[in-house]
Amino acid sequence: LLFSTPRIGEEFPIVASISQLDENGTMFYTVILRDVTERVRAENALRQSKEELQELASASQSVREQEKSRIARELHDELGQALTALKMDVNWLRERVVDKPEKEEKLAAMEALLDRTVAATRRISADLRPLMLDDLGLVPAVEWLVENFATRTGVSCQLHLSDPEPELHDPYATAVFRIVQEALTNVARHAGATRVDAWIRQSDGKVSISVVDNGQGFSPTDARKPKSFGLLGLRERAYLLGGDAKIESTPGLGTRVEVTLPIVEEESA
Ligand SMILES: Nc1ncnc2c1ncn2[C@@H]1O[C@H](COP(=O)(O)OP(=O)(O)O)[C@@H](O)[C@H]1O
Ligand SMILES: [Mg+2]
Repeated sequence: LLFSTPRIGEEFPIVASISQLDENGTMFYTVILRDVTERVRAENALRQSKEELQELASASQSVREQEKSRIARELHDELGQALTALKMDVNWLRERVVDKPEKEEKLAAMEALLDRTVAATRRISADLRPLMLDDLGLVPAVEWLVENFATRTGVSCQLHLSDPEPELHDPYATAVFRIVQEALTNVARHAGATRVDAWIRQSDGKVSISVVDNGQGFSPTDARKPKSFGLLGLRERAYLLGGDAKIESTPGLGTRVEVTLPIVEEESA
């Protein structure tokens, strides 16, 4: 038997269960009242801590995005410009001070190295966050992403946009870009596909994204691999914006990533 301290004049949550028993025509009822204060308190604490974690995730995601944007721009503007200037100087030298073949060779090698460094700087900057996303908007940035994916992987990739074209501001533009980026990265790394189709459709206050490949697929019900955060992050991104992510895959038949985000217009302050 368990006795709890009597709580007189106090309200607390209970769970009641009632059972009945028929004893030769007489009904007996048993009522069990259970004090669930602790359970309710624990549930509330859990819910609150989950909400706080989500707020934290959302805040750290947007800070990370801002940091990436800043580093990408510094790399592109500062380092990229300086390297380009150096390259012009080397070129200038090559036209003037070349009297011996060794000098000519050395300067040509320097120019080639500078070219590679400029290209690497651009690539690293764009991988962090394409400046296009901030400067020109979502559509040019996704078009660039898709073309880049196709040339890097040799997988044919088609982008389909709603008409009129989607026009999104942040946080939606960044979310859509990152979702397509993660889905395409997965295709490149895991699918062994020969074809991918990506759709971005905006209508009636929502945007939906689908990325479908014809690769080898996987079992989405399998336990998550310990260091795999891509699809988890994708779901989290959708969830934090009040949206919904579905990942469908059948071994041998390819994979479909489907995300829908409601677009909440910012209230003008
Ligand atoms: N398009 C795809 N085709 C085949 N397998 C995939 C695809 N996308 C995801 N997967 C599988 O799901 C796993 C989890 O993906 P993800 O969470 O993005 O982590 P990661 O890409 O870092 O492994 C991958 O390791 C892979 O096995
Ligand atoms: Mg991944």
